[in-house]
Amino acid sequence: MDNIPNPKKLKICVTGAAGQIAYSFIPILANGDVFGPDVKLNLSLLDIPPTLNVLESLHMELEDCAFPLLVKLTYHTDPEEAFTDCDVVIFLGGFPRKAGMERKDLLSINAKIFQEQGRALDKFAKKTVKCLVVANPANTNCLILHSNAPNIPKSSFSALSRLDLNRAKAQLANYSGNRISDVKNVIIWGNHSSTMYPDVNHGIIKNQSIRESIKNEEYLNSEFIKKVQNRGAEIISKKKTSSVFSAAHAVKNHLKDWFFGTPSVEYVSMGLVSKGEYGIPEGIVFSFPVVCKSYFEHEVVENLTIDDFSKSKIEITLEELLSEREDAKEFI
Ligand code: NAI
Repeated sequence: MDNIPNPKKLKICVTGAAGQIAYSFIPILANGDVFGPDVKLNLSLLDIPPTLNVLESLHMELEDCAFPLLVKLTYHTDPEEAFTDCDVVIFLGGFPRKAGMERKDLLSINAKIFQEQGRALDKFAKKTVKCLVVANPANTNCLILHSNAPNIPKSSFSALSRLDLNRAKAQLANYSGNRISDVKNVIIWGNHSSTMYPDVNHGIIKNQSIRESIKNEEYLNSEFIKKVQNRGAEIISKKKTSSVFSAAHAVKNHLKDWFFGTPSVEYVSMGLVSKGEYGIPEGIVFSFPVVCKSYFEHEVVENLTIDDFSKSKIEITLEELLSEREDAKEFI
C-alpha cells in the first residue's frame, strides 16, 4: 500500500528552520538520532522570506557535515512546496512574543500562520503525515492546524509537553537524590503553559510511589508544581530568550518514542487531540499520559484515578485551553 510511508526513508519538514531551536535540533535529526541509523532522510526546511540567507547558510552547513543519512535537502518559503509528500512535519516556526504584546495578539498572529499551514498540509503532505507542534501557544496552534486539515486523522497531530515532563523528572530526581531513569510515570496534564499540571500521583521512584519515596506533601503539592510550571519563564528571565537545546532534546525524545515506542509499563506525556478522555472536550489538544507502540501508534493511558486535588488542577489548565480556543475561533 503506497499510502503507508516507507520507514526506510522519511521526508521531514522542519518549519521555523532559521530559528534557535531548529539550529540545535536539525543536526540531531540529520545525524539519525531521532529515527535511527537505518532511516534515510529527505529534509525540507521552511521559514519566511526575510530569513533566506539563514536558510542558505544552514543548507551549506548541513552539506559540510556530510551526514550519511541525509539524502536530500531543500529549503523553502512556501509551505505548499515544503510540505509536499511529507511523512513528518515539525512545527517550530511562529511569531515570537514581543514586549508590550498581549497574549491574545500573539495567538491571533500565530493562528493565521497555523490556519494557512493546516490548509497546505491537508492538500500537499501525505495523508499519513505525522505532526508535532512546538511553536507557542503550542496546544492551540495544534488545534488550529488539525481543524484546517480535515483529511488527516486527528491521531496524527501532537504538541510538545515533553520538555515539561523532562523538567518534572529532573526536579524529582534531584530532590530525592535518585537517578532520572529511576523516576517513571510522572504525568503532564493540559496546556504547555504555566497552568500545566505535573502530577506525581501515578509515578514511581525505584518501584516505590513518588509520594512514599519523597515523603513531603507540602513540597509535592506546591513548590514542585510551581517550579515546573514556571521553569520556562525562569529561563527566559535569565537568558532573555526561551529554552533552546533542552527544547530540541525534548523534540527528539517525543519523536523517538512516537516512532519506536515507549518502554513497556512506562508512559510519557504528549499533547494529543482529545477524543473525550478524562472528560476533556473533543478536539482540544491536551497533554495526556500516553503509551506509544511502534511507528507512531499510540494510546492515551485511561482509567487512572484522579483525586480531587488533581481534578481542580486539570480544570484550571482546561479552562485556559477553552479560552484560547474561544480567542482562536475564527481560525478553526
Ligand atoms: P525563534 O524565534 O528563534 O524561531 C522561530 C522561527 O520561526 C524564526 O526563524 C521565524 O522566522 C520563523 N517563522 C515565523 N513565521 C513563520 C512562518 N509563517 N512559517 C515558517 N517559519 C516562520 O524561536 P525558537 O527559540 O526557535 O522557538 C520556536 C518556537 O518554539 C517558539 O514559538 C517558542 O515559544 C516555542 N517553544 C516551545 C516549547 C515547548 O515546550 N512547546 C519550548 C521552547 C520554545
